[in-house]
Amino acid sequence: MTTIAKGLEGVLFTESKLTFINGSEGILTHLGIPIQEWAENSTFEELSLALLDGKLPTAAELAAFDAHLKANRMIPEKLAEEIASFPRNVHPMQALRTAVSYLGLFDPQAEDTGEDARRAISIRMIAQFATIIAAIARAREGQPVIAPRSDLTHAGNFLYMLTGKEPTTEQARLFDIALVLHADHGMNASTFTAIATSSTLSDVYSCIVSAIGALKGPLHGGANEAVMDMLDEVGTPDQAEAYITKKLDNKEKIMGVGHRVYKYFDPRSRVLRDYAEHVASKEGKSTYYQILETIEKTVVDRIGSKGIYPNVDFYSGTVYSDLGIKKEYFTPIFALARISGWCASVIEYSRDNRLLRPDAQYTGATDQHYVQLQDRQ
Ligand code: ACO
Repeated sequence: MTTIAKGLEGVLFTESKLTFINGSEGILTHLGIPIQEWAENSTFEELSLALLDGKLPTAAELAAFDAHLKANRMIPEKLAEEIASFPRNVHPMQALRTAVSYLGLFDPQAEDTGEDARRAISIRMIAQFATIIAAIARAREGQPVIAPRSDLTHAGNFLYMLTGKEPTTEQARLFDIALVLHADHGMNASTFTAIATSSTLSDVYSCIVSAIGALKGPLHGGANEAVMDMLDEVGTPDQAEAYITKKLDNKEKIMGVGHRVYKYFDPRSRVLRDYAEHVASKEGKSTYYQILETIEKTVVDRIGSKGIYPNVDFYSGTVYSDLGIKKEYFTPIFALARISGWCASVIEYSRDNRLLRPDAQYTGATDQHYVQLQDRQ
């Protein structure tokens, strides 16, 4: 008898050496190394290279990769002009999807699906994503686009291009850690989408455009923005418990909690909470942070038994908000990090490619015949 795996839950379709998740214990590793160790010791640049190559790089390999990323930060002038002409009222994820598609038109290597070309394109895209997202944000805010600098880290340069101000070392590092935490996460919806596109032997740009579309939805990357909408709706910490209780009584979903794989605390949410707490201990607890503390407690008390705990999106918004970033840029920032996981997964899957083509159980009509238009009721 055929069973349907709704949402493909628990379905294994490939092998991967990149990311391991134990959802019941809240464990996440990349290349076997716990996410907490990556967050504490590594950088987005290093994790990106490690994912692409499937091993920790040597110092020389990392320096060469870093130089390569820096050398590729510029985007074609025509793309920058195009971004400046995008309608300002569209969501930045719509703009990102279009910009990445447009970027591919300028890459003479775009149609090359060999592994070397896929890797080269991936590295350029990792570098250019920062410039594209910052340009989209600046254009949307009616501000002049800022050219990348090559003396800053990937995270620091992005914040500089976004705000026009050079971030402090602490701000750049905090943002870098957020990128590390979001860089890869196994077969999530957007990575799976990228792989599905890649499995047809389509080009890397098409894979990434598909992935951006999948990440955009509020059940995936769009949840970090939805969490901030919720916090604004709650208003003050003393309203939080009643707000959540009412939502749960009405069987409504709370954004930033619950996960297909984690049935316990998402370890990334713990790292982000620790940083949010660190900021709060120095600067006093922000209203957002206080509301989140109450929501977390209420959710865990009420539906923790169903395996519903905070996910990565729960605290990421307040960290970005503390860095002065507007909520509509949170999901593009997720993409800024996840581009590394998308590219690494596409390359890994391509090595032993098989077209992804699942099936649906047919439950429609049978034994019917065509009825002429004039004879239909
Ligand atoms: N709030 C309240 N209840 C929830 C939530 C939630 N966020 N998520 C799941 N539940 C409940 C469901 O209502 C269901 O209850 P029931 O058994 O009484 O019917 C039970 O928990 C199981 O939920 P499912 O929807 O079957 O779980 P699924 O694995 O399909 O959902 C998902 C995972 C989509 C992430 C869900 O938890 C959700 O919508 N969360 C909110 C959106 C969010 O934060 N998304 C980000 C995920 S992380 C990421 O993509 C980066």
